[in-house]
Amino acid sequence: MQTQILTTGTGESYPITVRHDLLNSIGETLTERIAPCRVMLVSDENVAPLYADRTAKSLEAAGFFVSRFVTPAGEESKSVRVFGKLLEAMCEAHLTRSDLAVALGGGVIGDLTGFAAGCYLRGIRFVQLPTTLLAAVDASVGGKTAVNLEHGKNLAGLFHQPIGVYCDIDTMRTLGDMQLRNGAAEAIKTGILGDPGLFDIFENGNYEANLEAVITRSIAYKAKIVAEDPTEKSVRKLLNFGHTPAHAIELLSDFAIPHGYAVAIGMSMMTRAAKSRQIVDSETCSRIIRTIARSGLDTKCPYSAKEMAKIALLDKKASGRDITVILPEAIGRCRMEKIPLSELETLLAEGLEEQA
Ligand code: GLY
Repeated sequence: MQTQILTTGTGESYPITVRHDLLNSIGETLTERIAPCRVMLVSDENVAPLYADRTAKSLEAAGFFVSRFVTPAGEESKSVRVFGKLLEAMCEAHLTRSDLAVALGGGVIGDLTGFAAGCYLRGIRFVQLPTTLLAAVDASVGGKTAVNLEHGKNLAGLFHQPIGVYCDIDTMRTLGDMQLRNGAAEAIKTGILGDPGLFDIFENGNYEANLEAVITRSIAYKAKIVAEDPTEKSVRKLLNFGHTPAHAIELLSDFAIPHGYAVAIGMSMMTRAAKSRQIVDSETCSRIIRTIARSGLDTKCPYSAKEMAKIALLDKKASGRDITVILPEAIGRCRMEKIPLSELETLLAEGLEEQA
């Protein structure tokens, strides 16, 4: 791809580049924009053995001084404890305000690194190098950073935009089915929100052969939304389609159900609820559920509306007495609906109807 420049309403702008063989020249690419400095390269135990050496080598060849922080793979690393360890590692590596954090990995590493970069010395720069489909199509773009608290997902975090997102499409080759499906869910979401052509790729059942198109189209849509509303005051709320039930599902499963799988279930529920409220017709509802299932994702929720509603009340999407939910109207068009918190359990229950 072409490099796309994301300029947010707050004046920040950064390139988002998707191309082959990018990590081997990442140092040189970065020096086109910033002077060599100290770097904390953050990764996990699955990704580091595959890509950390080549990334560090390229950075060092371009004059950067690289320290590494490697944490176990998985949601457990998105914790206050690991966040603290990363901040201490940044101190030990003598990073100053003019230095850089680099997130090499999936959504967990991106969120953790971005949050630490946003807090360390009241904020240093960071770069996203997404290596999973989920991070490439969604998490790495837009500056949402966070760790989880015991009470819920992403409850401690901040908006801190990266200075660049560089996706090496070759890293997608090493992803297993679970990782691909995890990202597929967020891309299907984008299709339903605003890109019928992207939805078609999934409906036709050949997304794995079209990963570059899936990534570039997803990023293009997300960049447009983030540029308009970087801190989720308005249209960015659309990107939370399916996420209210999804965050509850992840927590109730103790993160055994991964984010994308939970989003797939959440989108299925919101689509059924939209049908029951005559917001979407039954043909479109069936197309959405069929396409999610065809992509190897679940559409049925194993939890009750009551259990999910209790957790969702703590979600950031709740404000005061209301919560904003996203309901599909057509493929490529969704609406934001503010409902009283007291109605959420009923809406979730509608989402569980006809799922047997
Ligand atoms: N993942 C939703 C957002 O970035 O707003």
